[in-house]
Formats: sequence, C-alpha cells, structure tokens
Amino acid sequence: IIQWDFMDTFFNLTLKDVLFWDWFSRHCPHAHFIFKGDDDVFVRTPAVLDYLLAEAANRSFSDGSRQANKMETFVVGDVISNATPIRSNGTKYYIPESFYKGWYPSYPGGGGVIYSGSLAHRLLAVSQRVHLFPIDDVYLGMCLQRLGVYPIHHPAFLTFDFPKDEPKEPCANHTILLVHKRSPAEMFQLWTETSTPSPKCRNTMLRALT
Ligand SMILES: *[C@@H]1O[C@H](CO)[C@@H](O)[C@H](O)[C@H]1NC(C)=O
Ligand SMILES: *[C@@H]1O[C@H](CO)[C@@H](O)[C@H](O)[C@H]1NC(C)=O
Ligand SMILES: *[C@@H]1O[C@H](CO)[C@@H](O)[C@H](O)[C@H]1NC(C)=O
Ligand SMILES: *[C@@H]1O[C@H](CO)[C@@H](O)[C@H](O)[C@H]1NC(C)=O
Repeated sequence: IIQWDFMDTFFNLTLKDVLFWDWFSRHCPHAHFIFKGDDDVFVRTPAVLDYLLAEAANRSFSDGSRQANKMETFVVGDVISNATPIRSNGTKYYIPESFYKGWYPSYPGGGGVIYSGSLAHRLLAVSQRVHLFPIDDVYLGMCLQRLGVYPIHHPAFLTFDFPKDEPKEPCANHTILLVHKRSPAEMFQLWTETSTPSPKCRNTMLRALT
C-alpha cells in the first residue's frame, strides 16, 4: 500500500495516477505491464495473462527481440469515444463549460485498464505538460492524445457490466477479461466458477466485437 500526502477525494483521483507513474518509474522500471482498476472489478487474471502474452508475441520479431517502440503505444480497455462533459450540476462528473469546452479525447474507462510499463514512463513525462484534469480516466485520454497514442478497445473489458439487452449465456462469465461492478461475494463466486470451468465452458473464446 502506497500512501501520499493529499486528501483522498474524488476530484483528486488523477493525482494517484500521476504520482503512481512517478513511483513506478523509480521502483519498477522494467515491469512489462500495468493493470489499473477499481476494487469492485473482477479480473480473470489467467485470461488477462494469456491475452497479454499473445499481444506481446504479436509485437515481437520472429527472432524474439521485442519491438519496444510498439509496446510504447500499448494501452487497452473499454475505450469511450465521443464523450462530452456532463453539464448538469449535481452529478459527481459535472464539469462546467467555463472549465472545459468541447469533447473529451477517446479514453479507456478507469474501472479497468492495462498499459505497458514503457508507456507509463512516457505518460509521466507528458503529464508535466498536460494540465491536471479532475476526472482520472479522461486525464489519461488527454495524455495519450498528447503522445499521439490510440487506446485499443477490447470488448472483454466490461467496465459497464454486461450489456442489459444481452441474452443470458451459460458460459458468459468465461468470455470476459474483467467486469465491473461486483460485490466481494460475487467476486468469490466468479473466481470459483472461472478457475474451475465446467467442461462445456472450458474452451470459451473471449468476447469479440459484434
Ligand atoms: C486535493 O488534495 C489537496 C491536498 O491534500 C487538498 O488541499 C485539496 O483540497 C484536494 N482537492 C480536492 C478537490 O479535494
Ligand atoms: C497482430 O497485430 C496485427 C497488427 O498490429 C493485428 O491486425 C492482429 O489482429 C494481431 N493479432 C493478434 C492475434 O493479436
Ligand atoms: C452547483 O450547484 C451548487 C448547489 O446548488 C452551487 O453551490 C454551485 O455553485 C453550483 N456550481 C456551479 C459551478 O454552478
Ligand atoms: C456469472 O457470474 C455472476 C456473478 O457475478 C453470477 O451471478 C452468474 O450466475 C454467473 N453466470 C453464470 C451463467 O454462471
């Protein structure tokens, strides 16, 4: 557990990202990937590792050397595009017109996002030149935009839960990388279910764009 000296409030969340990038750059400079998520997100960790290994392999040369420059742009999640600031006073995401005009850049929803360690070093550097913004995932989008990095959208990042209109499928919980939001009891149930899948769900594919 890392603690910093500021008030832990909703509009100070962005400070955690920026201070984390600094801490990470000093203490884990060689880590390959970062997962950042909320504490009420269930992550199917073995599936995430399989996915990341496949991504890393795909970005390698056949002789095994890594294309570091390709990993420097790696960020994946539930990418929100064409979002506009919420203009009604009284919601926690309210941003007055006087504070920010126009649309938000595309950003991966903060409930659960993965990016490369090398991108974190670049985010730290660029955060010196991008004005802090009180909504942390939007701020990540602003920094990515400044770097010219496009976040990858992956439909298995269910930061808004399963689509409401989706028919119930028996192996649905095996198609995800993560899902928001789940109670501790549900997490335990999900962990049990997904770590020992029934035979029919054993080879379920991740959700793909439909
Ligand atoms: C953020 O933390 C600082 C330092 O503790 C505090 O002065 C400030 O009021 C906080 N800002 C918000 C919006 O809570
Ligand atoms: C590998 O990368 C290419 C281009 O970057 C992409 O089109 C393809 O879908 C990737 N394949 C896998 C298995 O990730
Ligand atoms: C939002 O509403 C609150 C309470 O009605 C008010 O005190 C505050 O000044 C308003 N903020 C803005 C920026 O209009
Ligand atoms: C998926 O997990 C949820 C808990 O988040 C559980 O309520 C549900 O029954 C599971 N679905 C199936 C088909 O097992």
